[in-house]
Amino acid sequence: MGASTRALSLLLLGLLLAFFPGALGTNPGLVARITDKGLEYVAREGLVALQSELYRITLPDFTGDFKINHVGRGRYEFHSLNIRSCELLGSALTPIPGQGLSLSISDSFIWAQGKWKVRKSFLKLQGSFDVQVKGVTILVNLLLGSEPSGRPTVMTSSCSSHIRDVDVDISGDLGWLLNLFHSQIESKFRKILESEICEMVQKSVTSDLQPYLQTLPVTTEIDRFASIDYSLMEAPQATAQMLDVMLKAEFFNHHHRSPVAFLAPVMSLPEEHNRMVYFAISDYVFNTASLVYHEAGYLNFSITDDMVPPTSTIRLTTKSFRAFVPRLARQYPNMNLELQGALVSAPLLNFSPGNLSLAPQMEIEAFVLLPSSTKEPVFRLSVATNVSAMLTFNTSTSKLTGFLKPEEIRVELKESKFGVFNVELLEALLNYYILNTLYPEVNDKLTKGFPLPLLKHIQLYDPVLQIHKDFLFLGANIQYIRV
Ligand SMILES: *[C@@H]1O[C@H](CO)[C@@H](O)[C@H](O)[C@H]1NC(C)=O
Ligand SMILES: *[C@@H]1O[C@H](CO)[C@@H](O)[C@H](O)[C@H]1NC(C)=O
Ligand SMILES: *[C@@H]1O[C@H](CO)[C@@H](O)[C@H](O)[C@H]1NC(C)=O
Ligand SMILES: *[C@@H]1O[C@H](CO)[C@@H](O)[C@H](O)[C@H]1NC(C)=O
Repeated sequence: MGASTRALSLLLLGLLLAFFPGALGTNPGLVARITDKGLEYVAREGLVALQSELYRITLPDFTGDFKINHVGRGRYEFHSLNIRSCELLGSALTPIPGQGLSLSISDSFIWAQGKWKVRKSFLKLQGSFDVQVKGVTILVNLLLGSEPSGRPTVMTSSCSSHIRDVDVDISGDLGWLLNLFHSQIESKFRKILESEICEMVQKSVTSDLQPYLQTLPVTTEIDRFASIDYSLMEAPQATAQMLDVMLKAEFFNHHHRSPVAFLAPVMSLPEEHNRMVYFAISDYVFNTASLVYHEAGYLNFSITDDMVPPTSTIRLTTKSFRAFVPRLARQYPNMNLELQGALVSAPLLNFSPGNLSLAPQMEIEAFVLLPSSTKEPVFRLSVATNVSAMLTFNTSTSKLTGFLKPEEIRVELKESKFGVFNVELLEALLNYYILNTLYPEVNDKLTKGFPLPLLKHIQLYDPVLQIHKDFLFLGANIQYIRV
C-alpha cells in the first residue's frame, strides 16, 4: 500500500468509527470471567439469600370439606401458617452454554406450623399442626442479558419445585378426625408450597437479584475530567464451565466524549480455574486513558529559571547559554528562557509476556521571554525515554494502581534558530525536572489507580497478576460482605 492509500484507508476507518461507534469495536476492552469456583461461591451466597426469603413466604389459608359415615359432613380450615425454619442444603449454579445459568437446590427441608379449625353443624373445634416438608428441590433457569444502557439484566426463564415428602402432624381434640384426611391435606400442602416457592424465587430474582446486578458501575468517574465506561457489550456468555462478561472498558473525557480511533485487541484468555474470578484487562483500557489525559494536556509542562535548582551548572537565562549558543546571548542579552514540553502523542503501554513498558516521546520548545512579555521561540528538542511500568491490584480499594520506573532520557536538538549546539548540558536539567516533578506527578496519579467493575459489597482477595501479550490477567477470589 502506498502512503496515500494508507492515509485514505485510515481516514475511512476514522470516519466509520465516528459514524458507527461500536460497529467495528466489537472486542471488549475487559472480560470478567466467573469460573466454576466462582459460580459455586455465588450459589452458596444465593442460597443464604433465598433461605431468608423463604421465611417471608406467607402461606395461604386453605379449607376443605369432609364427609364421614356416622359423623356426617363438615368443613375444615387451616390458617395462620408460617415457616418456622428451613434449611436449603445442596445448591449448584451451572452455566447452560448459549443460554444462561441454572440454579438447582436439592435436599432441602422446611418446617411450618399453623392452626386448624373444624366446623360441623353446631360443633366448633380447633387445634394446631406441624408440617415437615422434606426433599425440597428447586430448579430455576436464569436468562442473563444486557440493557441498551449496558447494564446487566436477569430473568427467570423457568422455575419448578418439587417436594418429596410432606408430613402433617395434627394435634387437638378432633385431630384424629383430620388424620383421616392426611393424604388430602398433604397433597394440598405440597401444591401450595410448590407454587409459593417458585413465586418467591421469581419475585426475588426481579426485586433483589436484578437490582443487585445493576449495581455494576457502568460508568465510574475517575477524576475531574476522566470517566470509565464499563457497559456490557452483549449478554453474558455461558460456556461449559464459566460465565464471561464482556465490557467495553473505555476511558473517556466526560466533558466531551470522542470516538476512539483504535480497537481493543482480541484476547485469548488462559484456561485457569484456580480463582473464582479473572479479569482480562486489555491494553485498550490503559491506552484510552492515556489518550484522554494526553488530549487534556495533562502532561504539558513548562520549566522556568526559578524552578532550576541552585546547584545547577546551567540556568534558564540567555547569559548561561553564552558559552555554547553565543548568538542567542548576543541577540537576547540578559533575558530568561522558558521550556515548554508536551508529549508528541499519547504514550501507549506495551504488554509483552511478563513485561510492561512504554516509550514516551516528548517535544520541548524553548522560548525567550521578551521584556514585552511576548515569547520568542528559539529552539526545539526531542526527548525520548524507555519506561518500565508496574501494575498492582490493591485489595483494600479494589483498584488497579500503577507505578512508572524512570530510565535515562535521550535528548536531541530538532531545530535551532541559533545554530547547532551540544544539548548534553540541558540533559541534566531536564532529567532533574522529569525525575523530581514529572514522574512524581504521574506516579501520584497512577497510585490512585482506577476501580475494577465490581458489584456492590464484593471484595476481592488473593489476587494474582500475570502480564500477557496485549492484556493484564488478574485472578482473585471474591467475598460478599454482608451488611
Ligand atoms: C499541550 O501542548 C501541546 C504542544 O505545545 C499543544 O499543542 C496542546 O494544545 C497543549 N494542550 C493543552 C490542553 O494545553
Ligand atoms: C521489558 O521491556 C523493556 C523495554 O522494552 C526492556 O528494556 C526490558 O529488558 C524488558 N524486560 C524483560 C524482563 O523482558
Ligand atoms: C528504548 O528501547 C529501544 C528498544 O529496546 C531502543 O532501540 C531505544 O534506543 C531505547 N530508547 C532510549 C531513549 O533509551
Ligand atoms: C492500598 O490503598 C490504601 C488506601 O489508599 C493504601 O493505604 C495502601 O497503602 C494501599 N496498599 C498498597 C499495597 O499499595
